[in-house]
Amino acid sequence: MSAKLHRHVLRAAAFAYAAVMLSGCSWFTDFKRQPSWHPWQSEADTIPARGNPQMSVPVYGSAAPGFIYSRAQLPATIDSMAGIKNPVPADARSIANGHKYFAINCSVCHGYTGAGDGVATKYGMIGLPLTSDRAKAFTDGYIFGMIRNGRGSMPTYNRIEERDRWDIVNYIRALQGKIPGVTAPTGPLGKPGETGTTLPGVTEMGPTRPAPYYHQVGSQAGLPLDGADHAITGAPADTTKTGGEL
Ligand code: HEC
Repeated sequence: MSAKLHRHVLRAAAFAYAAVMLSGCSWFTDFKRQPSWHPWQSEADTIPARGNPQMSVPVYGSAAPGFIYSRAQLPATIDSMAGIKNPVPADARSIANGHKYFAINCSVCHGYTGAGDGVATKYGMIGLPLTSDRAKAFTDGYIFGMIRNGRGSMPTYNRIEERDRWDIVNYIRALQGKIPGVTAPTGPLGKPGETGTTLPGVTEMGPTRPAPYYHQVGSQAGLPLDGADHAITGAPADTTKTGGEL
């Protein structure tokens, strides 16, 4: 390099350096520090947290993240979820909540007692019983998968949050007489338009908090890492994050 060119290069470098230093622009900002929202984060308690858009990165603690289990409404896909463990104990709270969701969402086809005689069957819908020997043999994960994806004439009920979905699974188990000492309450809880305790109320998962059993389950896939049974007992802890610690 000639001495002249060398000087040119040096001068250009000095100018560029001065431009950066003098402009005050923070050139080398850590890209992590940009204004952005994390899932479930809210700036303040008065501003609703931002929920995850459909099909986006899954909720923490999801037993069936979208990148592991397909959303296809196909038998093989439902079968692939059959091994997912139910982390929610079938206690009185769960069955009462499952009853509400079942009465509102499922009974129209499957009937209030799960006999497959819902009102839609009068209009041509297939009435599939959930209390048959076939249904009794389903695993909890299979029923969970059926609600998540739907199949054939059954639409997806993925909008029912996971925790509540497990409550429906527990309720169906109670309808099937598989929960010792529990006779499942059946029938509608209220008349159309009635609110209050006849409705499930806010969900325990979304859009402001991850699954309460997240810490017990431990992995995004929902399968306990150590193979142990991590069913939670007692009331779920409030795992709401308030910001800061994210
Ligand atoms: C619109 C009517 C309809 C509603 C509402 C409905 N289902 Fe279904 N369900 C069906 C039909 C039809 C099938 C059979 C699907 C197929 O395999 O083609 C089915 C199948 C099932 C199965 C699998 C049965 C089997 O023998 O393989 C389960 C479990 C189930 N439904 C649970 C539920 C639950 C829980 C809800 C409420 C969240 C619900 N369904 C809501 C119509 C409905």
